[in-house]
Amino acid sequence: VQTKRFYHERVLDHYNNPRNIGSFDKKDPSVGTATVGAPACGDVMKIQIKVKDNVIQDVCFKTFGCGSAIASSSLATEWVKGKTLDQSLEIKNTDIAKHLSLPPVKMHCSMLAEQAIKHAIYDYKMKLEKQATCEQPAP
Ligand code: FES
Ligand code: FES
Repeated sequence: VQTKRFYHERVLDHYNNPRNIGSFDKKDPSVGTATVGAPACGDVMKIQIKVKDNVIQDVCFKTFGCGSAIASSSLATEWVKGKTLDQSLEIKNTDIAKHLSLPPVKMHCSMLAEQAIKHAIYDYKMKLEKQATCEQPAP
């Protein structure tokens, strides 16, 4: 009940019914993985994307953190699903924060989500490049 005073109902909705919780096989070449952390509070967020033909087909997350971080990651996974990598790179933490009505003190929670999406895309692209230049299987 007390959380209601601090959290917007959209945060509570994502917190209570998080979308796309889970994890994919990190070694799958179509999967990009990012784990980001907020040094200030110690919260950790992992987001994984599954990509085909430049489109994010599937996405999942696991967040060890505050309600705003969980809501931000849940919302971010909803937003990138079905989008191209370029479209997904355009997602700004300010959009996430606005949608969830995060107070200034919780801005960094939404930043984690933007970072995680960007790093997951980066991880996927690096894998793709490696595959193109080196066909050897990983040891
Ligand atoms: Fe640090 Fe939310 S991620 S308080
Ligand atoms: Fe690793 Fe940004 S710090 S991709």
